[in-house]
Amino acid sequence: TQSTSSALAFLPHIALLRLRPWQLVLCLDSYLAADRELTRPLPLTSPSIKLKHERNRERQERTAMAAGDGEVAVPAAEKPEEDQVVNPWEVSAKEGGKIDYDKLIVQFGCQRLDQSIIDRVHRLTSRPPHVFLRRGVFFAHRDFNEILDAYERGEKFYLYTGRGPSSEALHLGHLIPFMFTKYLQDAFKVPLVIQLTDDEKCMWKNLSVEESKRLARENAKDIIACGFDISRTFIFSDFNYVGGTFYENMVKIDKCVTYNKVVGIFGFTGEDHIGKISFPAVQAAPSFPTSFPHLFSGKENPRCLIPCAIDQDPYFRMTRDVAPRLGYHKPALIESLFFPALQGETGKMSASDPNSAIYVTDSGKILKNKINKYAFSGGQDTIEKQRQYGANLEVDISIKYLGFFLEDDAELEHIRREYGAGRMLTGDVKKRLGEVLTELVERHQRARATVTEEMVDAFMAVRPLPNMFN
Ligand code: TRP
Repeated sequence: TQSTSSALAFLPHIALLRLRPWQLVLCLDSYLAADRELTRPLPLTSPSIKLKHERNRERQERTAMAAGDGEVAVPAAEKPEEDQVVNPWEVSAKEGGKIDYDKLIVQFGCQRLDQSIIDRVHRLTSRPPHVFLRRGVFFAHRDFNEILDAYERGEKFYLYTGRGPSSEALHLGHLIPFMFTKYLQDAFKVPLVIQLTDDEKCMWKNLSVEESKRLARENAKDIIACGFDISRTFIFSDFNYVGGTFYENMVKIDKCVTYNKVVGIFGFTGEDHIGKISFPAVQAAPSFPTSFPHLFSGKENPRCLIPCAIDQDPYFRMTRDVAPRLGYHKPALIESLFFPALQGETGKMSASDPNSAIYVTDSGKILKNKINKYAFSGGQDTIEKQRQYGANLEVDISIKYLGFFLEDDAELEHIRREYGAGRMLTGDVKKRLGEVLTELVERHQRARATVTEEMVDAFMAVRPLPNMFN
């Protein structure tokens, strides 16, 4: 084949480099991978001695070359340095700018979630689409249409989502995928698996095993408080659950993914510990139903739908790439925007900066204070100017937040019109937002207070869910 002959042409160069036999195997493997998997081998010279513009040009070339039709379209680490960065560990816009989601769709190779799909969901579930669908919070997908096709034919699917337990308290951004997943579970009446990646946070955040496990349990309480149906929901922590067929799937996945490929997708370097390199298979495995024999053994390989924020896309690009080789359906995805920080829309809300986020544990008083003090305003500096020119809704954080959480379409439209025309002031909009969010967090706090240790055990018990598809 073409790739074998080009690999053979490469042999004399390897001889010149005086590589040891195992290094030769690595080189050849990566060279062959170039054709097979749309990634290129690592450069043989150190990139650090190159000038920045040289590196950028090379990355752009590689990116252009890689943007073919495979799943692994554009490696996350391959963006030019000035550009926006979106991967599971970093979300940052071009300096001072906003995340360009249209560009992200093209770079990642996913599809925009358009009105026709929303209408279809409405028809199939006979219930009004969730605000997150109507307002474009979930804005991108991969093969969601195929899930709907299968559902229409009467085939089963299951939902999979997760959380990395890195902090005690969740902020509003963390709630978004869970609120939406609950809606999907109720609307389609399907089972759900929720992965708590205590292992991931132990490795990335330098938490102890014990502390990660404790946080996983605490976070499970917040997740349960979102209202999931215990007869259709299995929550698991990696430290407690990984083993059996789940582990068998991890090993099969690992065998399909070269080192060069994870480097291409995630940007790992030689300095990263090997735990990071092996983790993607842990997050991939729940996409395959055989990882849950207590739920799906005897079932006809049901499809998997993953609701998540779009920064998780790299994991599932990798998963979709290997799925057919292992005899599974590619998991489908439905992906959300990031929830912006109070200070403005240049990244996602960060749990590590308390003033950038509203926590589900904040009191009404605290959150109103944060909104008044920090929520970036698109209004004018003075009342006179505001009356004259109106507010810039595009940058106004209170308007953005209301777009996520004020369910009444007519009221939102009214506020947008009045504020944009200068008949409402920033203070008025912030006041309404304070009310909406207070109601939300107080409802959450009441629900969480009722979640007992026994309930956590019950959701996390490895058990069959007999009526999960009814
Ligand atoms: N890596 C995710 C995080 O840090 C957690 C996660 C695991 C996840 N599996 C998932 C998120 C599936 C969405 C979908 O939060």
